[in-house]
Amino acid sequence: MSIDEIDRRGFYKDFHAYGDKLINQYMKIGDLELEVRNVPVVISGMGGSGAVGDIIRDFLYYSSPIEIIVNKSHELPSYIDDSYLLIAVSFSGNTRETLAVVEEALRRNMPVVAISTGGKLAEYSIKKKLPHVMIERAMAPRSGLPGLLAAALRVLEADLSHSYEKDVVEASRYLNYVIRAWKPIEGSKPWSLAEKVMGHIPIVYVPHNLTSLGMRAKAAFNENAKTFLYWDTYPEIYHNEVMTYQAEVMHKIKPIFVGGGDKSRFLYDLLSEKGLSPISIEYPSDVGRLAALLKMVLLFDLASIYLAVISGIDPYPVELINRIKEL
Ligand code: PA5
Repeated sequence: MSIDEIDRRGFYKDFHAYGDKLINQYMKIGDLELEVRNVPVVISGMGGSGAVGDIIRDFLYYSSPIEIIVNKSHELPSYIDDSYLLIAVSFSGNTRETLAVVEEALRRNMPVVAISTGGKLAEYSIKKKLPHVMIERAMAPRSGLPGLLAAALRVLEADLSHSYEKDVVEASRYLNYVIRAWKPIEGSKPWSLAEKVMGHIPIVYVPHNLTSLGMRAKAAFNENAKTFLYWDTYPEIYHNEVMTYQAEVMHKIKPIFVGGGDKSRFLYDLLSEKGLSPISIEYPSDVGRLAALLKMVLLFDLASIYLAVISGIDPYPVELINRIKEL
């Protein structure tokens, strides 16, 4: 059966266009003006929109001059005050949690910038005279990641008076390069990954400064393939989770090691001896942090889409999420 028979809307094509979308939206949005400079930020959003905050925090893990807090709820912690800038991200612009956070930020006199494709967030921004970055539509929030990310980076650039253009250009080129070999065909890397995890519960281990990848991989498998994926981080697992492998091993799980050093290799070998056939994925070391991270995000995004297709599941619809939004 061909991918187009299962993924009838051609959802996978949105992901294949990540590289172009990232650079096009970044260039189209252009330089932004903000009234604040060098202030710490709270990036708030849910699901596919919330992934933007995680990715930016990890991208700037070693280089951010400011504190970056990622918020994924309808509330703000008590210590957030008007010295922070709120970047509110909602693809649809209608997510209640994100709208509630904007209202709360205004109650605290925080500066706010909103990012969406329109919706109530755009309307509210006009009403309250808040800066709003309108991004282009994609088929779904999760496939709108490049546009959301481009917009949030532009906001950060204005806050920090620093350009991330080199990183964005490199990431875009790199994504366009890798996608050429990542088609929905047997033998391509994401397709092979999907085949290997088929019938298993993947457990992805990532370095502590790449939690965005674990979270995004989980969300992609949940929403696209409608299946579980769990994740954890090095070095924390060496202090707890490893013990589960000492005792009985469940053959329905598929450990996936992303990056890691000697300790992860030790664990990989141990699990191989126990017959678990773990997977090891090399983390790119020949490109900058944004390019490397987005390549890994795309790998898991595509693996989740291809897994859905192999399993005969349409990756696009997310009825239960939509039903719960109505409650
Ligand atoms: O990917 C999805 O469809 C969801 O995770 C949404 O991103 C989430 O429900 C929040 O909606 P929005 O991105 O429109 O704010």
